Amino acid sequence: MTERPYTTTDSGAPAGSDEYSLTVGANGPIVLHDHYLIEQMAQFNRERIPERQPHAKGSGAFGTFETTDDVSEFTCASLFQPGAKTEMLARFSSVAGERGSPDTWRDPRGFALKFYTDEGIYDMVGNNTPVFFLRDPLKFQHFIRSQKRRADNNLRDHDMQWDFWSLSPETAHQVTWLMGDRGTPSTWRHMNGYSSHTYLWVNAEGVKHWVKYHFKTDQGVECLTGEEADRFTMTDPDHYTRDLFESIAGGDHPSWTLHVQLMPFDDAKTYRFNPFDLTKVWPHADYPLVRVGKMTLHTNPVDHHAQIEQAAFAPSNVVPGIGFSPDKMLLGRVFSYPDAHRARIGPNYQQIPVNRPINPVHSYSKDGAMRIDPVHDPVYAPNSKGGPAADYPGQAEPQWAADGELVRSAYELHAEDDDWGQAGTLVREVLDDDARERLVSNAAGHLLAGVTEPVLERAFEYWRNVDADIGARIEAAVRAG
Ligand code: NDP
Ligand code: HEM
Repeated sequence: MTERPYTTTDSGAPAGSDEYSLTVGANGPIVLHDHYLIEQMAQFNRERIPERQPHAKGSGAFGTFETTDDVSEFTCASLFQPGAKTEMLARFSSVAGERGSPDTWRDPRGFALKFYTDEGIYDMVGNNTPVFFLRDPLKFQHFIRSQKRRADNNLRDHDMQWDFWSLSPETAHQVTWLMGDRGTPSTWRHMNGYSSHTYLWVNAEGVKHWVKYHFKTDQGVECLTGEEADRFTMTDPDHYTRDLFESIAGGDHPSWTLHVQLMPFDDAKTYRFNPFDLTKVWPHADYPLVRVGKMTLHTNPVDHHAQIEQAAFAPSNVVPGIGFSPDKMLLGRVFSYPDAHRARIGPNYQQIPVNRPINPVHSYSKDGAMRIDPVHDPVYAPNSKGGPAADYPGQAEPQWAADGELVRSAYELHAEDDDWGQAGTLVREVLDDDARERLVSNAAGHLLAGVTEPVLERAFEYWRNVDADIGARIEAAVRAG
């Protein structure tokens, strides 16, 4: 038998007992100076941190990303140089449910990656879909509230969801995608991940390209039917969580191949779709996929709370060679995530081991709750005392030009921009007959679960705008009840 360690208090001193509180005689009252009992009770009462506002339910694993192809003419980011190997963390999640909600509810899935590069943390905080419901961050909070619970009965409510969607036609592409097979992946291992947003890549000479990321699952895309997903919801609500953990524990290491679409910087002005509109894809025929490398997940967390729950992913975490685009949603997210982390975890969340960069940090941040690393003088800049200087020699912050009046406005339209076109292409040109039938059944089932007039009539019109035939079939299925 292996020798067991003796139990200690959190301060490392031997604990008096694993079983008995300190009492006045065997039958007597508990005493206040049983600090070990009090430590157990007090720590327990503080075990929970607030759950993520969206994406509360999720799990993840550690892995390695290897750059297998040469994309150095497009980016000087160190992790994307040929042969580079970078340690990383992935967290997959659902969006609308709470921390204990079933994995298999119909929802987009989060696909958040943290790369521990030698030039800082790079986070690619994507989803398993190439588009999103919205194109202005002002609507995101309203959208998520419509997906969560009502104020009065604390129930989720399809009437509320369709009220929002049918009044927000820009949601049509993502909703069509969601009501199709990919709204219920078979596991996290069997879904793709996308940046969805357009980012900026810059090479060592300063040449810029717009870029979209596609992490394609090497396990193959597999989805559940609506009925299969419902069955898992009842029989194994943690199905995806279990599948990922057990696969990795059993030596079956899932992998994804990263491809990118690259758009020359000046194409953006005249491209037929606004390339920064998050409700649109760039058709592959216009910008084909270019292979970059492969990520493999090989190591499970040992402590879900410390390594996954406290993981803090942020689109603001970019590294030299990678920048933002003028996508308004992305720019909103660049603010929102570090703000959420400060609220959820605390101001020094980046010093928690899972969030900590592997390269030395020389920032001028100072103090605050739970600061662990000592701060050194000088604590201000500029200084003549040898403190760090922001004189990085490379492409630290690639930018683009912007000019104009301050306005509250929709994007200016490009030649083929509208709300319905790409959703219709998905229905007519990508789905086959069986997949279209499942889309009709899923959408009708969703509408039958509590959507009332006048929202229902608007929902039928919404689907007719996506595709006349699909709209008619969804309406007929709902009317037939
Ligand atoms: P393509 O024929 O080149 O691309 C279609 C892509 O759709 C496929 O490569 C596949 O991408 C994805 N796909 C396949 N089956 C489904 C499904 N059941 N549900 C959702 N996506 C599926 O045509 P386009 O590039 O012109 O795109 C046509 C439509 O395809 C778009 O309007 C969009 O709705 C959808 N799509 C496009 C993507 C893009 O980046 N261009 C990416 C994903 C979807 P993958 O292997 O990446 O899943
Ligand atoms: C989580 C905000 C759009 C993917 C979150 C969180 C917030 C948030 C506050 C919780 C963060 C935390 O507490 O750790 C927003 C806002 C958006 C937006 C304001 C738009 C304006 C998107 C889009 C995507 C996305 C478009 C995907 C392309 C994710 C993922 C997570 C997340 C994957 C979970 C990250 C993790 O695993 O910890 N979002 N979001 N979000 N969001 Fe968004």
